[in-house]
Amino acid sequence: MTKKAVVFSSGLGKTRKIATYVAKGLKADVFDLKKQTVINLSEYSHIIFGTGIHAGKPYGALVKFLENNKSQLSGKKTSLFLSCKLNDEKGEAQLKKVSGELGISDGFFFHGKGEKNDEGMEKSVDDFIKEMQRR
Ligand SMILES: Cc1cc2nc3c(=O)[nH]c(=O)nc-3n(C[C@H](O)[C@H](O)[C@H](O)COP(=O)(O)O)c2cc1C
Repeated sequence: MTKKAVVFSSGLGKTRKIATYVAKGLKADVFDLKKQTVINLSEYSHIIFGTGIHAGKPYGALVKFLENNKSQLSGKKTSLFLSCKLNDEKGEAQLKKVSGELGISDGFFFHGKGEKNDEGMEKSVDDFIKEMQRR
């Protein structure tokens, strides 16, 4: 089985909430870049990155982590989720731009306005977990 890790950068806590929920759903390990900036990813084959967005930009801690860890990430599967407010075409355009900047093409975004499940989490996050299980 593919061992997965979720690595995230959160400011006000929304990305943290999603990352923790996703990690639980995938039985993945979760790393908060606010607490830890050096992470040994050797045992993982699929890394899922999460970040909030300010002024169209992903959080600096994630940008820095990706820059500093190119060699340990090479050859691994990577996916990305954004916790943001933009939806529809603007959200898609923002995702495309941020995915390109970060070099992670497998990208998704959660705008917080979708239907929620019983745990108060957007249902699209459950779909994301299922999608990540297939990777
Ligand atoms: C100052 C500020 C700027 C923001 N800029 C954007 C933006 O450009 N695009 C967007 O989609 N969301 C934007 N947002 C919304 C945040 O990305 C969103 O609330 C996200 O869930 C925050 O994640 P966090 O709680 O993990 O920090 C902004 C929020 C704040 C407070």
